[in-house]
Amino acid sequence: MNTVTTIAELRAAIALARRAGKRIGFAPTMGNLHSGHAALVTHARALSDFVVASIFVNPLQFGPSEDLDTYPRTLDADQQRLVEAGCDLLFAPSVAQMYPEGTAVQTRVSVPELSQGLCGASRPGHFEGVATVVSKLLNMVQPDVAIFGQKDYQQLAVIRAMVRDLNMPIEIVGQPTVRAEDGLALSSRNGYLDAAQRAKAPVLYRSLSEMAEAIAQGDRDYAGLLERQRKIISASGFTLDYLEIRHAVHLRPATALDHDLVILVAAYLGTTRLIDNLHLDLHAAV
Ligand code: PAF
Repeated sequence: MNTVTTIAELRAAIALARRAGKRIGFAPTMGNLHSGHAALVTHARALSDFVVASIFVNPLQFGPSEDLDTYPRTLDADQQRLVEAGCDLLFAPSVAQMYPEGTAVQTRVSVPELSQGLCGASRPGHFEGVATVVSKLLNMVQPDVAIFGQKDYQQLAVIRAMVRDLNMPIEIVGQPTVRAEDGLALSSRNGYLDAAQRAKAPVLYRSLSEMAEAIAQGDRDYAGLLERQRKIISASGFTLDYLEIRHAVHLRPATALDHDLVILVAAYLGTTRLIDNLHLDLHAAV
């Protein structure tokens, strides 16, 4: 695997692959890679002939009181993981390379409606930062296919809308969430949890699973289900940000007539913000 840090080197390496007739797959990340990221690369490998990954901790998507400075940066270990997962080229640019004019004057990409609410409500500007950096990366790499984790469900919806609305000729593929044995969704932020917090963390997935099970059994009292599980999550020591049942595509509050649902949760354990979700397709059940 080759690692490049400049856009010129990235473009030259990809041009070579293209000239050899290769289909390009892309897995953008912020590094501190775990098995969930490895799954993105493995999936990209299966869908393309030349796999590019990026590692860039994007300052534009962090709020002023968020963990930009402390976000784990583990390039050596990440490179090793990417090699093992079958990555061909790693792009690991500096902030100056990505934002040479500074972030204040950077052109922004914003996706209305989908970026509001849920994580967008407690992280103002976050999805604009994500959409901006992802559109830059997609323009740099120009992949045929790009893979994003379904764990960041709202992010994936925002990116799908952006690619559709800006007519980018790129297939966007969602990668199922990789979980620890006790159900906790893998995340770089899990590393912030102390032992007691880590023991509580699987409560989120249990709540999602119980709700999904009840809905699959025909329960349509969403308000009641939400109230019960919100109490359970709070009583387990979390500070709940949101627990919602939404339509899986446009993310508006679900109605009893919707068949394509997603249950989404965000909650703090101490200062660590965890998110998770469960997609529920009821078409098969009707
Ligand atoms: O999901 C992430 O790791 C980031 O939000 C992404 C898509 C790489 C953009 O910085």
